[in-house]
Amino acid sequence: MKQITVNIKLVQGDITEQNVDCIVNAANKELRGGKGVCGAIYKAAGRDELQAETTPLGPISTGSAVMSSAQNLTTYGLVGDKHGIKGIVHAVGPIYQDGLHGEVELLASAYRNSLILARQYGYKSIAFPCISTGVYGFPAALAAKIAVTTVVEYLLQNPGLTVVFVAFESDDFILLETALHNTKQYGQLFVDTGKLSAFNIDCEQKQSLDKMLDDAGLQPLQNQQTDFRGVFSAEFKKVITDISDPFSEI
Ligand code: APR
Repeated sequence: MKQITVNIKLVQGDITEQNVDCIVNAANKELRGGKGVCGAIYKAAGRDELQAETTPLGPISTGSAVMSSAQNLTTYGLVGDKHGIKGIVHAVGPIYQDGLHGEVELLASAYRNSLILARQYGYKSIAFPCISTGVYGFPAALAAKIAVTTVVEYLLQNPGLTVVFVAFESDDFILLETALHNTKQYGQLFVDTGKLSAFNIDCEQKQSLDKMLDDAGLQPLQNQQTDFRGVFSAEFKKVITDISDPFSEI
């Protein structure tokens, strides 16, 4: 019986604060610094430095992606450990019109090409925002399904990469969580390990959270800050035990 473990993490928070090798920017074709997640990434990395690097890499087509360095982007772990993001994948999702202009496949391509790039660069972990669901107007529920399906299918064929879905909004967190739980269509078993990490909490919440972590046999949060961002994080492990699934030949 074939067993493949797919490592996917779901977090609510800011993508610039994730401890991963590379993060994905929801970019435009010209790779100009913009608003939304793009604005947050350019700001954190150093707007002028990153723009100077990305301008010559563009324009790129919708659905494709390019890698840049992370310039000055550094994030801090829960225990205050400094962690350098190594790269930024600039992926261009489609502007949603009516669903009849190849939007689904173009969004899937943006995710797939980002994963391919991360792998080519030898990165072990990648964090995605909800590409196209802001300024580009893609319906969020459909986008979450496409994101999850594309990532899961890629990881089943190319295991080894850890993928972090970063939902900025709680609605997107719920949609992604639902989509993750619904990926049972291949007859696989999805185990939510229930591990918790970053939170957006005040002191009182931290105490009750530490108790929850303690009850679950996990370490209490080390970060004493009271206003740091990020909310729940759940870790998913997908274990394939059904040999009749479409990827059983892998
Ligand atoms: N971390 C993670 N996600 C974020 C952050 C952040 N700091 N800020 C915003 N988001 C989320 C939004 O909530 C949304 O779900 O990113 C998602 C994508 O929204 P946009 O940033 O608007 O991206 P998109 O819809 O793909 O539009 C791309 O917007 O900023 C411009 O240059 C960009 O032209 C491009 C276009």
